[in-house]
Amino acid sequence: MEEGHPTRDPLEDFLKACGVTVRLEEAPQDRFAELPPIPIAAHQPAKLPKAHPRQPVVPEWEPPVEAAPPAATAAGQAAIHAAREAARAATTLDALHAALASFEGCPLRETARSTCHGEGPVGAAIMFVGEAPGRDEDDAGRPFVGRSGRLLEKMLAAIGLGRDEVFISNVIPWRPPLNRTPSPIETATCEVFVRQEIRLVRPKVLVPLGGAAAKTLLQVDQGIVRQRGRWVSYALDEHAPDDTIDAVATFHPAYLLRTPAEKRRVWWDLLAIRERLESRHGLPPVR
Ligand code: URA
Repeated sequence: MEEGHPTRDPLEDFLKACGVTVRLEEAPQDRFAELPPIPIAAHQPAKLPKAHPRQPVVPEWEPPVEAAPPAATAAGQAAIHAAREAARAATTLDALHAALASFEGCPLRETARSTCHGEGPVGAAIMFVGEAPGRDEDDAGRPFVGRSGRLLEKMLAAIGLGRDEVFISNVIPWRPPLNRTPSPIETATCEVFVRQEIRLVRPKVLVPLGGAAAKTLLQVDQGIVRQRGRWVSYALDEHAPDDTIDAVATFHPAYLLRTPAEKRRVWWDLLAIRERLESRHGLPPVR
């Protein structure tokens, strides 16, 4: 289409007024129709679940690399069993962390530089549990010391708490290679240790950070968008179901770094946590 000369075609004149200077084809083409159908991978559901009609579904960021294939069932079960034995035998945090450092049943430890076990005081006001260490944490051998950790510290400061007053850990203590999603067997093996850590820390409030930690620890199927902000009772011991602590999941700081508009919801969650600590656990109000 030439610029600047009126034509006798009103459509052409209209397109020109809109700034369209080149028309490639007379008739519109449906380019998607030319693509071959996308194969549905064996592990994907044939139908996608419907989104709730009234609630916007904000997908939480997940590392883009695929999960490793699950280990053979017998080997996986043996690893979980060994983890259970080692974790249950540990009656102090130091003993648990020593058991974790020498545990060889999870392949993730072979590619990680360090074991990032949890840190903080026993009886902490809050215990945060993320998914797995990233590169900064693997380098430092400590949980949440990178960008997510710095944001977590700012979130804490906003409700009058310092990092040293809370316990910070991860479901997985070893950085998965290329930050890939841990396999179900890897998660099930490491979960045993973090559950024992929670038992030994016995925080006043447990806060899983992000969808993966919430699903693992709270054993819920729904995503973090629906789960966050909901108070539940977390049973510290499967054999003593009445021995519970308060738990509430919220968004992962890494997600907030990518989606700052969601900080508002996390702020509500933090205020609710602060309020519960004051009203039920005698934490003095922030001055
Ligand atoms: N993300 C996590 O889930 N844990 C960390 O320790 C750091 C980033």
